[in-house]
Amino acid sequence: MEVVSILACLFLSSLLSYPLLKKMWRPVPKQRAKLPPGSMGWPLVGETLQLYTQDPNVFFVTRQKRYGEVFKSHILGCPCVMLASPEGARFVLVTHAQLFKPTYPKSKEKMIGPSALFFHQGNYHNLTRKLVQTSLSPDTIRKLIPSIESVAISALESWSGGHVISTLHEMKKFSFDAGILSIFGQLNSNFRQMLSDSYRVVDKGYNSFPTKIPGTAYHRALLARKRLNQILSEIICEKKESKLPEKDFLANLLSFKNEKGEILTEDQITDNIIGVLFAAQDTTASVLTWILKYLHDDQKLLEAVKAEQMAIYEANGRGEKPLTWAQTRNMPLTYRVILESLRMASIISFTFREAIVDVEYQGCLIPKGWKVLPLFRNIHHNPEFFPDPHIFDPSRFETAPKPNTFMPFGNGVHACAGNEIAKLEMLILIHHLVTKFRWEVVGSQNGIQYGPFPVPHQGLPARFWKESINLA
Ligand code: HEM
Repeated sequence: MEVVSILACLFLSSLLSYPLLKKMWRPVPKQRAKLPPGSMGWPLVGETLQLYTQDPNVFFVTRQKRYGEVFKSHILGCPCVMLASPEGARFVLVTHAQLFKPTYPKSKEKMIGPSALFFHQGNYHNLTRKLVQTSLSPDTIRKLIPSIESVAISALESWSGGHVISTLHEMKKFSFDAGILSIFGQLNSNFRQMLSDSYRVVDKGYNSFPTKIPGTAYHRALLARKRLNQILSEIICEKKESKLPEKDFLANLLSFKNEKGEILTEDQITDNIIGVLFAAQDTTASVLTWILKYLHDDQKLLEAVKAEQMAIYEANGRGEKPLTWAQTRNMPLTYRVILESLRMASIISFTFREAIVDVEYQGCLIPKGWKVLPLFRNIHHNPEFFPDPHIFDPSRFETAPKPNTFMPFGNGVHACAGNEIAKLEMLILIHHLVTKFRWEVVGSQNGIQYGPFPVPHQGLPARFWKESINLA
């Protein structure tokens, strides 16, 4: 989702005011706490050029080495404090979360929809988050296994035949379809196609320069976002008429009523649907793309994962029976491959918050209005917590990581509400991939692209073939 986008540092949000909190929280006397070490760069541009002319990960790592785990910078017009320690991330996201608010550029907020839960703090956030969590609870998602399997199988079938595909591009289609299942349950294929067509245009324009000039990617995306509202409005009408006792996210949004009998507005419903789709798609697709690269690069590991999955495949009468929830909870090696991929790739390298009052952390001042970035990737690549961090080694997850050192899904009140379904989708796709297909990466096998998540070069072009099944 958006959090990783470096562009997200335009930060113009003024979401909520906290008068009560401001009264209760005594500002830090400025003479006591000092700003953390670090460079604010050049006037106006700060260190933005340095950030853009090198690998962003190098930017953060070199500054951590130079200044320590708390340092300041100035990027894209915003003064920031970066926190590269587990304690720092926990301070901002968990123990002192009430002192920091989520912050996104207005242009992005407009594109997703300002009522989407991750722009909010407080009551509205709590209630919408509860609705997402109920809709994505283990009890609900276990019923989706057969549908996710059929989406995975038809995706894999369409890739096979030896033609070159962009793995990332295809994974995006898979995670979009899986996202649709988690939001609507079964959705008629016309609606699905219409949503997919418009969503693709929104996705393309989301990271482009925000301008209302007709013909630009951003403007086209704004128009497509309006179309999404119309399509969703039709889906909502149909859902209301059907009156089926369903438990999917849309049904839960529609049936919500607070203690005063108030219901959610249609804008609140549509913004949250687009928000969840948005949070679900690129994230899962990027991690899956990395998983395919890591497995391809380590054939011995791939064979071991295959052995684990073949045993399940055989137990299910060579795929005659669907996967069970218990089977998806008992794929230890595959699960460790997923965890290690989440750590290695750290696709959400950091997140953003904004200090709503002056805050003191470890003797350093974080002034009100400054952006605060917990640096997940730096923590995931710190040899103190993960020895030889640049080596892909799933066995490191045979023992649990130290508390707050592994946060691929964030932490605290805004932590990922979809982490269980994301892992389920990945396990299911890997199961069908390794038991029935093989693949070969095409062209340059190294290099990273940022779009905005780090992904393998050119989205990992690859060929897929269906393995001939030995029926002996
Ligand atoms: C591997 C895939 C995924 C990764 C790595 C991931 C990561 C994250 C992270 C780091 C956050 C917290 C952001 C912050 O604190 O600013 C987040 C939030 C969120 N994610 Fe995910 N996510 C993934 C997949 C999904 C899926 C599949 C869904 C839904 C179906 C989802 C729904 C959400 C929602 C709704 C939030 C906002 C929660 C809130 O603000 O309360 N995510 N995700």
